[in-house]
Amino acid sequence: MNSAPLKNLAIIMDGNGRWAKERGLSRTKGHEAGAETIRDITTYCAKHPEIETATFYAFSTENWKRPKLEVDFLMKLLSKYLKNELKTYQENGIRFKAIGDIHAFSPALQKRIKETESLTKDNTNLTQILALNYGGRAEITHSVNSLIEEGKTHLTEEDISSALQTPYSDIDLLIRTSGEERISNFLLWQLSYAELSFTSTLWPDFSSKELKSILSSFKNRSRRFGGLK
Ligand code: IPE
Ligand code: IPE
Ligand code: MG
Repeated sequence: MNSAPLKNLAIIMDGNGRWAKERGLSRTKGHEAGAETIRDITTYCAKHPEIETATFYAFSTENWKRPKLEVDFLMKLLSKYLKNELKTYQENGIRFKAIGDIHAFSPALQKRIKETESLTKDNTNLTQILALNYGGRAEITHSVNSLIEEGKTHLTEEDISSALQTPYSDIDLLIRTSGEERISNFLLWQLSYAELSFTSTLWPDFSSKELKSILSSFKNRSRRFGGLK
């Protein structure tokens, strides 16, 4: 039986708002519940022998279109999450890294992001990557511009891959919760040959049990990368 290697996992955490609505709660309660789920899934991944990186889509370049109150709440929640999470990161050997343009955030939040990256930089069980003010097109454009600024006039795929913000150029498995089946501008370059898994579970209800079952069905997939086998 084929056993596909799994190093880089990506997750589009979707459905917080609908989870709250179903319970007659405000959308912000859904985001709070969703933050708990990230902790559970991240610690599960840190214990998994194969997974090296887990990249979570937390705020897209398009999410600024939401009402200011919701955006402000998400920024506060992120700051609180990082503060509370430090213990979990250190206890579970998790390195934290942000991708996306964080310059749009408040100086205090940028500082917290940088500090968390630096305090956890020697942890080796897992790299948890949060995509913050992230867009796949913005990342590729930024990568190309930085290569042009270096003086390059002809780019290879390897040049572009190495200038991306992610420490990998290929995602093995992408999971999206909430029943939506689209990419929403996430990791466009890195998803080139990723296996895709969609579940109708809303993000706050997603569990390590469901992840485990998705991972075991991933193991049976035949990844051909254009070849025959
Ligand atoms: C995902 O949940 C979290 C973010 C995009 C920040 P949503 O807030 O998109 O939840 P739904 O899709 O409205 O249910
Ligand atoms: C994608 O979810 C972005 C994040 C999970 C952060 P959205 O809820 O923003 O995506 P669309 O708008 O439904 O495609
Ligand atoms: Mg959504």
